[in-house]
Amino acid sequence: MSDFDFFDPDFQKNTQTHFQRMQRECPFAHADKPFDWYAVTREADVAELLKDWELWTSFSGPGLANQSGGVLVTVDPPEHLFDRRLINKAFSPAQLLAMEDDITALINELIDRFIEEGEGDLVPLFTMPVPLIVIARLLGLDEDLVTQMRPLADAVIHPDTPPGKIERPEQDTPQTRYLRSMMDSRRAMHANGEKMPDDVLSTLITAELDGRTLTDEEVMGFMGFLFIAGSQTTTQLIGNLIYRLLQQPDQLELLMNDWSLLPNAVEESLRFDAPVNGLFRTNTRDTEVHGVKIPQDTKVICMFGAANIDPEFWGEDAGEFNIMRNPQLTKRHYAFGKGIHYCMGAPLARLEGRVAVKAIFERLPNLRLTGEPKEIAAHVMHGVDSLPVAWDTAEGS
Ligand code: HEM
Repeated sequence: MSDFDFFDPDFQKNTQTHFQRMQRECPFAHADKPFDWYAVTREADVAELLKDWELWTSFSGPGLANQSGGVLVTVDPPEHLFDRRLINKAFSPAQLLAMEDDITALINELIDRFIEEGEGDLVPLFTMPVPLIVIARLLGLDEDLVTQMRPLADAVIHPDTPPGKIERPEQDTPQTRYLRSMMDSRRAMHANGEKMPDDVLSTLITAELDGRTLTDEEVMGFMGFLFIAGSQTTTQLIGNLIYRLLQQPDQLELLMNDWSLLPNAVEESLRFDAPVNGLFRTNTRDTEVHGVKIPQDTKVICMFGAANIDPEFWGEDAGEFNIMRNPQLTKRHYAFGKGIHYCMGAPLARLEGRVAVKAIFERLPNLRLTGEPKEIAAHVMHGVDSLPVAWDTAEGS
């Protein structure tokens, strides 16, 4: 018997109601499709699993399907520490924050392209391209070719993609051929002693850590992972926050009267509408959770989105979106995970969220919904796949 059906469209539509029921009735909830697996939804349990990486390993990957052999999210210490140190060389929080002027300029350029239209779907117009262009810049990919890479990012959310499965960059697809050609030309520049651009690709190619350099497959693995990690998730953050503010005009008014609330509005969005519902861990030995015995190698999902609305942790108003919530408390959300795998792109995602949301509400007067947004189809993700809106144009006013 299954306690919940993650793949039922209603779960995607009314996620919080399902989370609240699971927290109350079955804190270690059982699912049986396509095999036996479990979910923890209470904040204390999610915290416990994420902390104990020796029992709850990432070795089988963060999805429902097994994905061993990758980078960062599919490895445990000590390999994991090597990967983190490598990515730290490629970008530090300070470097990410230094991109603010660039990001502000590109967001305004994007808005210039559609501002005269007066209506449209903000997902393809705005929430999707912003993170794609930013991650392309960071990684050193050609921005015009980013559309070619989009299927790689879409693979994460595509309804046909088996649960938890992420297309691996090793496969021979137009996107991986493009990545490979970028890598080859950069390796040639390096071999010829030419000056290389200051981006993640150059760092990965020249990186030497513990006396070793990266193989082609490793460079491809990091590039593919960062591309996926940095695009869809941030699209959801921007879309979720815009949608929530449009639905709750009182909160939008508070924000527009006092933009110093913006960082907390981004945190509250990450708490209330976590872009990633949850990710999996696998136990390295037989164990017991809430009195349920499970054998070694059982997949258990840590529901970040549920932990983020657990009244035991957040108080009785946990189920309300409130940008005035105590900032010290709000930022303890689980949207970026916790523990050794804590998101390395968090400062960049927050920055993109802040700049994008401020620009959209400042530049599109009287922004309003014109229809029901469509929920994203991927089960691990939470957000909108379309956001139909209208706004006043200079011509119309
Ligand atoms: C709102 C946007 C984002 C969300 C919600 C998000 C969420 C997450 C989560 C939940 C994890 C933890 C994985 C786990 O515990 O297994 C993670 C890891 C990671 N994220 Fe993000 N992410 C976002 C944006 C980004 C961006 C923009 C980048 C890159 C520029 C990035 C790079 C990474 C990396 C490198 C890791 C792996 C850390 C590790 O395994 O040690 N993320 N992210």
